[in-house]
Amino acid sequence: TFLATDLTIDTGVQELLLKANSEGIETAFDRAKQQEPHCKFGLAGVCCRRCMMGPCRISFGEKGAKRGGCGATADQIVARNLLTLIVDGATPHVEHAREVAHTLLEAAEGIAPYEIKGKDKLWKIALDLGLTLEGKSTNEVAKEVALIALQDFQKQTGVATWLSLHAHAKSVETWEKLNILPRNAHLEIANAINKAAMGCDSDPLNLLLGVMTMALVEGYDGLHLSTDLSDVLFGTPKLVKAQYNMGVIKADYVNIAVHGHIPMVSEKVVEWSRKLNGEAKALGAQGINVIGICCSANELLMRQGVSVATNFASQELAIVTGALEAMVVDAQCIMPGLQKVAECYHTELISTLPNIKIEGSSHVEFSPAKADQMGEEIVRKALARYTERDMVKLQIPKGTVEAYAGFSVEQIVEVLSKINQEDPLQPFIQALTDGDILGVVAIVGCTNPRVKQDWANTELAKELLKHNVLIVATGCSAHSLGKFGLLSPEGIEYCGPKLANVLKTMGEANGLTSLPPAWHMGSCVDNSRIDDLLVALANRVGVGVRDLPVAGSSPEPQSPKALSIGTFFIAQGVDVHIGLNAPISGSPFVENALTGDKGDFAVTTDELFGGKLIYEEDPIKAAHVLLQRIIKKRTALGLQS
Ligand code: SF4
Ligand code: FE2
Repeated sequence: TFLATDLTIDTGVQELLLKANSEGIETAFDRAKQQEPHCKFGLAGVCCRRCMMGPCRISFGEKGAKRGGCGATADQIVARNLLTLIVDGATPHVEHAREVAHTLLEAAEGIAPYEIKGKDKLWKIALDLGLTLEGKSTNEVAKEVALIALQDFQKQTGVATWLSLHAHAKSVETWEKLNILPRNAHLEIANAINKAAMGCDSDPLNLLLGVMTMALVEGYDGLHLSTDLSDVLFGTPKLVKAQYNMGVIKADYVNIAVHGHIPMVSEKVVEWSRKLNGEAKALGAQGINVIGICCSANELLMRQGVSVATNFASQELAIVTGALEAMVVDAQCIMPGLQKVAECYHTELISTLPNIKIEGSSHVEFSPAKADQMGEEIVRKALARYTERDMVKLQIPKGTVEAYAGFSVEQIVEVLSKINQEDPLQPFIQALTDGDILGVVAIVGCTNPRVKQDWANTELAKELLKHNVLIVATGCSAHSLGKFGLLSPEGIEYCGPKLANVLKTMGEANGLTSLPPAWHMGSCVDNSRIDDLLVALANRVGVGVRDLPVAGSSPEPQSPKALSIGTFFIAQGVDVHIGLNAPISGSPFVENALTGDKGDFAVTTDELFGGKLIYEEDPIKAAHVLLQRIIKKRTALGLQS
């Protein structure tokens, strides 16, 4: 009954699933099956555990309870649950941003051992913040910027500074009218939990407005702040070439996987792997090989050209190769199940953040000041494990795929400037206007063992490319595209002829046969880069972001982050597709507000913001819904399709 080909289209993962199965090792794919059928109340969002009068749930049929013990209706319960789900999505990014800001401050003060590599980015942010630069050293400016960033967690009035730095004026106008502008991230997170608490906000509309405030917190003090300050610390990504698939794990090397999201941790692992490479040779290995999983992979791929082993759903399978000496994890998307799998091998699972530990794993603590000690200790732990490797259990699927990454907005502008130096965005806008690029769709988010891994991500991308829609990608979805050649110039075979020509022209101007059909723009927090690109295009054309022929999609969403990021784009007026439903179908009001066109209800995000949520499991059908929405926006701009 076990068919690996039903679970993933990644043949390397299929091979390892069979290995795991024969060794009696359980993975997320098995556990997801064990949970079937999923609780229908949970799927619909109508169960409430918010107090001890409950738990309560609302029945679907004629019979049964229509209200919770307190009188809460399905609309109220679903809206409250959605609000806390969005808080769950946004908060890890807000913490991510705060930790980067804190590290930048200590780096500038000479306490934390990080060199400030992104001076251009630092100057730009400092000028945008209105700081004077004359006579100040890099560290002095960095300290001022870090302090202003940290103040963005304190503001009691006004608007979060990072929103003012990045948002399009027309979007701000809409948000101001609706009174949903966030003051500071911590305050708004507390406010959201307060709204959702027992006996507090029970107005579904007011709760949904709270969702949109939280979406803006996610967008600005989560995504943008994280990306900006990571670029200051580690440099803004540039075009790089690397390899994808389990085959990047090398049998004759000491292999260290970095998994999670926080670049301060993964960058130090790479730095110390390089420093201690000779010690691996002394053990008889060829050296130390760092490989990436999830967004730690994206951060290192974009800035260091580190290769990527796999994405979310198959994180445990990287250990099943029997070739990982260590897996280093920090925050977000780390399956607790990793430890049980690691115990079947010589692999040491190492957690790093003081407040995020894994039961049973080792822990080497990160703090900005002690980052070097952490890096060295982790690499030494991996070296010590190398001699414990069991060669009988070693099996690394063969083959890797070449991929390009590093499409920061700065890099995109540089690439385009080879065609038009004075006005780099002009050739891009010309192609959009002429329909050579019909539109742009961002494919973002996760893989999820409930969906055949990589299948929906790649099918959606190919169908859109065929219709001359350019793809930009982040997160684990970008990894799906990378594994199947869509981040490589060869991938233009999937493009319609018009898009293929544009990509060839842009590529040739930059010494490549073509640009890849999907542009890898980074990690999940780097959805900020996609936002920056949209704002730049809208400003250049003189329209709002909501008017652009663009859309977003998360075909295989797993994390609440996919929903908090998705609602951030909806707030800007961008349509967002999801391939698995959000838990909202139990409330006609909430479902219609997010997914409806107009309907019988008072409000929809489509009317208020200009974008909506589109739920469609079939990626080909989803592509065509997105195409229709793109064409509708083109028509409104007076463009042919
Ligand atoms: Fe039930 Fe209301 Fe308590 Fe929720 S808050 S568990 S609906 S009584
Ligand atoms: Fe991520």
